[in-house]
Formats: sequence, C-alpha cells, structure tokens
Amino acid sequence: MPHLIDTHVHLTSSRFQGDLDRVLARAHAAGVGTMINVGVDERDSAEAVAQSERFPKVWAAVGVHPHCAAEVSPRYLENLTALAKNRRVIAIGETGLDFYRDLSPRPIQERVFREQLALAAELNKPVIIHSREAHDQTLQVLREMSPPRSGVAHCFSGSGKVLDAFLELGFYISIAGPVTYPRSHQLRSLLGEIPADRLLLETDAPYLAPLPHRGKRNEPAFVKLTYERVALTLEVELEQLARQVRANAARLFWG
Ligand code: NI
Repeated sequence: MPHLIDTHVHLTSSRFQGDLDRVLARAHAAGVGTMINVGVDERDSAEAVAQSERFPKVWAAVGVHPHCAAEVSPRYLENLTALAKNRRVIAIGETGLDFYRDLSPRPIQERVFREQLALAAELNKPVIIHSREAHDQTLQVLREMSPPRSGVAHCFSGSGKVLDAFLELGFYISIAGPVTYPRSHQLRSLLGEIPADRLLLETDAPYLAPLPHRGKRNEPAFVKLTYERVALTLEVELEQLARQVRANAARLFWG
C-alpha cells in the first residue's frame, strides 16, 4: 500500500470530537502515513500542536486564518512563536486573504497576513497560504515579502495565470477534493501545468470532501480519492504519484 501524505487537515474541528480515534484508524487503513494539522487561530493552533504530540503521524502548522484575523490577541505573534518552538511544528499557517466571505475587514486581514509572513521568515519556516477571491492581492503581498522557505498555495483554485505566478514565487501547489467534482474541468486541465516537483495533495478535512462523499464530513482517509483522481488525470501510477508528493512535502516542510 502506498504511503500517502495529507498536507492539510483540521483535526481540531468540533466535527471530529466524538470519533477522532476512529478517523485516524481509517486514515491508517487507507495508507495515510503523515498528516499536517493546520491551525486557524491562536487557541486552535495550540490544540493542533497538542494533537501532534499525541499522534505520531500528525504534525502541526500554527497560524491565523484570514477569517479569524480580526480576533487576534495583542500578543498573538509571541504566542505563535512560542508554539512554533515545538519540534512538531513545521510551518506557519494557514494565513492569507479571503475576500469571498470577508469575515474580517480586509485591511486587518492584510496586516495579519504580512505579520505572519515576517514571522515565517524570522523562524525560517514555510507558509501555508489560503487565498480565496483575493489572488491578485495575495500575490502582490507575497512578491513584496516572499518568505525564504517559500510555502504552498493550499486548496488551489486559481487560473493558469495565478498558477504561474505562485510557481514563479517558488511556491508549491496543493490540490484538494474539488478536483474530483464534475465541474472542475479547469482545475483538472491545470494539473499538467504543475511541475511534478511542486505538487502537493490534501483533504482540508472536515471541509470539501471528494466524490463520492461530497457534502459530507471530509476526513484524511478520503485523500486517497484525490490521489486516485489526480493519478488518473496525469496518467501516472498511484504509487509513483504518492512517492512524488511525499518527496515534495519532505523538501518543503522537513527540508
Ligand atoms: Ni484549511
């Protein structure tokens, strides 16, 4: 069985509260050997780190999601820095800009994004980027202060032009469950444009479950469905794809 990596999960979600052990057992049975557990605010990041210490296959990223940018504490950068000292923490994120839901005022989103990019540079860690309906602004900020270890455009959903811009900045591109949806022609047609050594795969569980689980709670075991769809589209063996993604993640997050 191939060793699969799920580069973006939210195991701290309340939707996993009742059965996380079973979720992790199913991930194991599906061949998922590594998961990156991504924080969305200060408290959630602390919990993601705690889980990473409890479960050997789970690593952590600490950060503030653009939705949560307006609620950071005055000491949030110190808090994230303290968390990032833990050896299980391998990235800063998720951070970025979300002008689709606009849950935090845009100027605050941008300030908190910039501060976390500076933090990633200071701590020499890659960043996990969330960008929704804000690609131009996200790329503009990244051009101004691209972190030395680069990072990943998580749950990529942009055009070919946006893809090229992220690649030019040295970023990796992570593909999630929507690649399995019937209408995602554009996303599938872009897969071949991603250099093999820049491709990552993820669930973003509990969100965005791939077919045939669309609309239900997503979980790390389902990442296999995304690997299968991407392997089919790229006409490569699943085993080869799994090996490539593992090598890419190792270079970016553990390199
Ligand atoms: Ni996420």
